[in-house]
Amino acid sequence: MKKRKKFETISVRTQVKRSSQKEHSVPIFATSSFVFDNAEEARAVFADEKGGNIYSRYSNPNNDEFIEKLCLMEKTEDGESTATGMAAIFLALTSHLKAGDHIVASRSLFSSTHQIITNILPRWGITHTYVDIRKNPEWEKAIMPQTRLLFTETPSNPGLDLCDLEFVGKLAKKHNCLFVVDNCFATPYLQTPADFGANLICHSATKFIDGQGRTLGGAIVGPKNIIKDVRFMARQTGPSLSPFNAWILSKSLETLAVRMEKHCSNAAVLATYLDKSDDTEIVKYPFLSSHPQVKLARKQMRYGGALVTFELEGGMKRCIRFLDKLSMISLTSNLGDTRTTATHPASTTHSKLSEEERKAVGITDGLIRISVGLEHIDDIIEDIQQAIERSKKA
Ligand SMILES: Cc1ncc(COP(=O)(O)O)c(C=O)c1O
Repeated sequence: MKKRKKFETISVRTQVKRSSQKEHSVPIFATSSFVFDNAEEARAVFADEKGGNIYSRYSNPNNDEFIEKLCLMEKTEDGESTATGMAAIFLALTSHLKAGDHIVASRSLFSSTHQIITNILPRWGITHTYVDIRKNPEWEKAIMPQTRLLFTETPSNPGLDLCDLEFVGKLAKKHNCLFVVDNCFATPYLQTPADFGANLICHSATKFIDGQGRTLGGAIVGPKNIIKDVRFMARQTGPSLSPFNAWILSKSLETLAVRMEKHCSNAAVLATYLDKSDDTEIVKYPFLSSHPQVKLARKQMRYGGALVTFELEGGMKRCIRFLDKLSMISLTSNLGDTRTTATHPASTTHSKLSEEERKAVGITDGLIRISVGLEHIDDIIEDIQQAIERSKKA
């Protein structure tokens, strides 16, 4: 059996076949279609009797390279790249379901995913039950005869709560359901859900995979027999990733391991600092000993990730003052950037949720989410500390 290459080697050495130009770095295949040597070849490629590219909505060497690399990292067989993370999640939720089917999903989800499950799928007769991501018995209790799919995002955005992947993976298998995991926060460098029985893994490549805040992108990977239906749906409905963005994202994967090492070590230092500070309340980070699921985090993740959340006394008004006083850290809703970013989920990314829904997943008015970047940790801490001080006075 061929020995599996290490993560870092996969990142830099998975490349499409070199062209006749003998380039070292893979070029961008900016072409909408591909040519055939003759009519018989065209017929055979269309009939799936022969491999080959037809049209970039279907496949393109840049997209293929990006997906091949991600599949090796996620320890899965096959996948599709998409224009955004939401396109990947939408494919995961719709490519295998029909009217009458039922989904069990963790309640703490990225807000657009929550909107699809709550407000879009029911129009097509697909119902759902939300469960507390942390409570295994709730997952089990929610399964009904018509349940076909279990969905989670772990660690969750922005609550940083965890799903017990091994438990839910086994549950899905027992009930013959698909288990879908949004692995956006952890990336395959920290966590490979396929090891725990996940059938489909989705990514917003916009986040740590690009890692530099340049492009939108997404991916969905899994076993060949499950990706077959995803591919059919993707090819007909057209959520394709552009070859240029696929090229960017494949290049970005080359540095995922080194970037995640630094993101995570910076985040761990910041979380420890905030946890000890008298100025902050409820600091959350999966690898902090005060995190209620730290044992599970250490079991299924390599490090605690790059997101840290905390609460400031004084609610919404105090948070707004804090954000306005930041001098270096960027005020933006994106995360997974080289630059540290700060977000107030209640008034931005999760504002579409009702107050009740936000309360149920721990998004209080005083919650701040920090995506820790690659600046020197001393400068990150200094900016946060001065903003905390200056936000004390109204
Ligand atoms: C956990 C998670 N999943 C999915 C998405 C959606 O990704 P995109 O914006 O690339 O569509 C986001 C975006 O913030 C996210 O945080």
